[in-house]
Amino acid sequence: MFILTLVVPILVFGLFVFKRLESPLARLPGPRYTTFTALWLKFKEFSRQRRAYIHTLHTFYGPVVRLGPHEVSFASGAAMKEIYTSGGGGYDRSELYEMFKQFGTRTLFSMPPKAQHSQRKRIVADRYANTNVMKPEVLDGLKRKAADFLANCVRQKECVDVYVELHCYALDGASQHLFAPYGTNSLNDAQDRAIMRELSYHDSLQQYLFKYYLPAVSALLATFSRPKFVPLANNFVLDACEKRDPAQTSLLAKLQSKAADLEALSAPAECMDHLAAGIDTTGDGLCFLMHQLSLPESLAVQEKLRRELVENPDAPFEQLPYLEAVVKEALRCFPPIPMSFPRVVPRGGRTLDGFFVPEDTIVSCQPWTLHKNETVFPEPLVYRPERWLEAEEERERERMFFAFSQGSRGCLGRHLAIAEMKILLREVYSKCRTTISSEHKGSMDLSDQIISSRPKDQTCKLVFEVLQE
Ligand code: HEM
Repeated sequence: MFILTLVVPILVFGLFVFKRLESPLARLPGPRYTTFTALWLKFKEFSRQRRAYIHTLHTFYGPVVRLGPHEVSFASGAAMKEIYTSGGGGYDRSELYEMFKQFGTRTLFSMPPKAQHSQRKRIVADRYANTNVMKPEVLDGLKRKAADFLANCVRQKECVDVYVELHCYALDGASQHLFAPYGTNSLNDAQDRAIMRELSYHDSLQQYLFKYYLPAVSALLATFSRPKFVPLANNFVLDACEKRDPAQTSLLAKLQSKAADLEALSAPAECMDHLAAGIDTTGDGLCFLMHQLSLPESLAVQEKLRRELVENPDAPFEQLPYLEAVVKEALRCFPPIPMSFPRVVPRGGRTLDGFFVPEDTIVSCQPWTLHKNETVFPEPLVYRPERWLEAEEERERERMFFAFSQGSRGCLGRHLAIAEMKILLREVYSKCRTTISSEHKGSMDLSDQIISSRPKDQTCKLVFEVLQE
C-alpha cells in the first residue's frame, strides 16, 4: 500500500513531465519553466506586468516566445499577418473576450464565433466607415466638442487636468456617434461628467481576471462584495436606446432599423460596448499625446505642427501630413491598447515563424513590442513624428503599425478615433501652446487595465497659452 501511494504520484508526475516535453511547444524559445506551467504568467497578469514581462522575454529570446504550456507570443510582421489577417479575419479570438458581454448579451467585441461576428458586423460596420465618419454633420459635431474642450482649458489656463477634459471629449464624441442628438455633454454638464468618472476611473483588471480564470471563486466573492458596475452609464445607454428619432448617421438609427434581426438587448449591449471601447482608448491616447507634445523636448514638434495648421486653415485634416505623423507616432509610442490580442490556432495547427504550433494554442502579438522593432523604427523609444514622412521603409512601418490591431476583427472605430484626435489637435494647436504645469506631479507611466492602459495616476496637468494670430 505504502509503495502504491508513493509510486502512483511519481508515475502521474512522470507522465505529466513527459507529455509537456513531448509537446511541439517544448521546442520553442522561452524560459524552461513555461514548458510546464503558466503560473508565473498569471502572476504577471494579476500584478499588471504581463505586457512588460512579455516584452522583456522578446528582447531576450527573440520574436517567438513560449509563455506557458499552451500559449505563445510573436513579435514579427509575418506572424502578425498570419494570426490576424489570414483568410480575412485571422484566427478566432480566445474565450477571454466572452467576459465582455454587456447586459448579459454578446456584442461584436465579445463574439468569438466567426459566423455570428460577421453577421453582426454587416449590420454595424457602415456607421464606422470613413464615408459616414466624414459626413459634415458628424465632423461639425466633433468640432463643436473640440471647441468646448478648448474653452474649458483656456478658462482654467494655468493648470488644466487634461486627463479629465480629454475623457469628457472622448465620451461626448463617441456617444454623439452612437446616439446623436442624444449623446452626452460631459464637457459642460456635471451630471454627464459623472458618467465619464464612473467609466474611466474604475479599476477592473483583477476582477475580470478572477472571473476568467476562477469563475467559481469569483461568483463566491461576488456574494460578499458587490462587483463594480456602472449604473449611470448603463441607465444613460438604456434611456438613449429608447429614443425614436436618432440621426441617420448614428449607430442607434442603424440598430433600430435592423431590430427584427437582433435579440432583445442587442442594441443597448452593442452601444454600451462601443461607448466603453471609445472613451478610454481615445481619451488615454490623446492624453499621452498632449503630454508628450507639452514636454520641453517636443516644443519644436508643436511649433512645426502649428505652422502646418495655421498655413492650411481650410485643408481637410486628412490632407495634413504632419498632423497625421504626430498622431501616428503617438499611437506607436503609447498605443492605448498595448498588450496582446489573444487568438486560437485553428484545427490542424499552423507553422508560425518556422515553428509548428499545435491547434488550440493561444497565440498573440502585442503593439508594445511590435512598435519597438529597431529595424523598422530606429531609436524606437524616441517620439519622432518625422519618421512617418520618410519614404524609406514606409511599407514596413505601415505593416508593423498595430495600434488598432489588423484584419476584420481590428478596431471598428478607427476612423472615428482618428477624426476625433485630429480635430482636437487642430483646435488646440492652431491657437495655443501647451506646456507641463508646475503642479503636474502624477506619473504618466502606463498602468495596464484588462484591455487598455492609462496614465498611472490618471492626471495630467498642462498650461494653455493662447497665441496671437
Ligand atoms: C485611439 C483609439 C482606439 C484604439 C487604439 C482602439 C483599438 C482597438 C483594438 C486594438 C481593437 C481590437 C482588439 C482585438 O483585436 O482583440 C479594437 C476593437 C474595437 N474597437 Fe477600438 N480603438 C479605439 C477607438 C475606438 C472607438 C472610438 C470606437 C467606437 C466608438 C471603437 C470601437 C471598437 C469596437 C466596436 C471593436 C470591436 C471590433 C470587433 O470585434 O470586430 N474603438 N479597438
